[in-house]
Amino acid sequence: MYEFHPYFTNDGSVGLYNPDFDDIYHSADGALTEAYEKFIYPIDFDTLLAKDNIRVLDICYGIGYNTKSFLNFLLEKIKFSKKNSKKLIIENNNIETIHTNNILSNNKRKINSNSTTYNSTIYTDNIFSKISIKALDNDKILSYLSPFIKTGEKNIDNKNLNFEYKQVDKYLSKQKSKNLKKIDKLINYLIFDKIAHNNPDFRCNDELSAILTSKVFKKYFDSNFSALYKKINYKGIHLSLLNAFITFLHNIYYKYVSNWYKNRLKTYKLDNVNFSLEICDARQSIKNDNLTYDVIFLDAFTPSKCPCLWSYEFFQLLHEHLNEDGMILTYTSSAAVRSAMIEAGFYIGKIYNKTSDKFIGTIAVKNKSLIKYELTEDELGLLKTTAGIFYRDENLTGLNEAINAGRNLEIKNSDRMTSSQYFKHCKEIK
Ligand SMILES: C[S@@+](CC[C@H](N)C(=O)[O-])C[C@H]1O[C@@H](n2cnc3c(N)ncnc32)[C@H](O)[C@@H]1O
Repeated sequence: MYEFHPYFTNDGSVGLYNPDFDDIYHSADGALTEAYEKFIYPIDFDTLLAKDNIRVLDICYGIGYNTKSFLNFLLEKIKFSKKNSKKLIIENNNIETIHTNNILSNNKRKINSNSTTYNSTIYTDNIFSKISIKALDNDKILSYLSPFIKTGEKNIDNKNLNFEYKQVDKYLSKQKSKNLKKIDKLINYLIFDKIAHNNPDFRCNDELSAILTSKVFKKYFDSNFSALYKKINYKGIHLSLLNAFITFLHNIYYKYVSNWYKNRLKTYKLDNVNFSLEICDARQSIKNDNLTYDVIFLDAFTPSKCPCLWSYEFFQLLHEHLNEDGMILTYTSSAAVRSAMIEAGFYIGKIYNKTSDKFIGTIAVKNKSLIKYELTEDELGLLKTTAGIFYRDENLTGLNEAINAGRNLEIKNSDRMTSSQYFKHCKEIK
């Protein structure tokens, strides 16, 4: 049986615990809140949405919060004018909608609205049709569960978990978040649809069925999606019939999706988003990919638990796959990761979180002007200590244990200061 350990995080979204790593997949303070704060708010949407094609790479897709938040963020901000043209106005990286009588035929244009002058850009074309998202994860069942996961749960009940509560209790703050975060169901429909069409073994997967029908997990799933899955879960179709089946599946799928959703999907043209999920080792997939990306989400487990996705060689690979004005976003502030990024040729900066007034992650870019918050002298100094010795994975095929062992040996043989010696030294000279 597949090991699945869900619980509710403080913002009403589902979080996961991994007993093998004794680690949590998401912030217990709010899995979705974390996705927004670390991966979505730092994006420069003004520049991004001005592009003809927008390519996003979601490394370590898991249950898909980063992809979902990205789409949800856009969906929430797009409103319709009488003429049914979409107007998305972006100011200082805060997206808001305003009303104007201008009917815009261009892709984008600077506008004046009412008496206020907005030095902003309006987008009237279909935002979603230019978005391609490629999601990578090596855990098939987890990724296949992504469209079923419920968000915005009001009655956060962490009783009767299928693992010891104390494993996650240590991460949960006592204060429940006031803002329940929710993903529009439409996005889950989109992901369900795309996975069902592009990943043939999705529809007849015994492990997936067992989890979806288990009473223990029922409260974590949207019952509409579990019901929909039951309808399409036909076994025994020969591969040669697959094409016919895909049409068949599509018909069944659309038969059971309510008209309300069908209409909304069509109106927003959300189904124009090109979403694909690849079940793979992210390193191999990116090696074989010849596309470049505008935004890369890097959401691997903590560096010491999954060093293969934080090595110098992996960042060299990402450097080849990032557009000149693109950015890599990640939650970690690890010195080993930051020094590997710099060594691979990136400029790096910090992610600022308004709510907590703290810096919460790292941005890596090729164009230095995209960095809003640079590292301080002290933070840069830390990269020169043993903490800044990065992970090596020469052929991008190493096992996590071997990569860790290699780094530990390098630290042992290094004559660099340790981080605690460095902090002591910094205190003394201040
Ligand atoms: C912290 S979780 C990501 C959470 C995810 N972004 C979400 O929204 O649920 C880390 C993910 O990395 C995946 N993973 C671990 N090693 C990997 C590898 N070598 N290639 C691809 N995915 C990997 C795990 O399966 C897990 O889903």
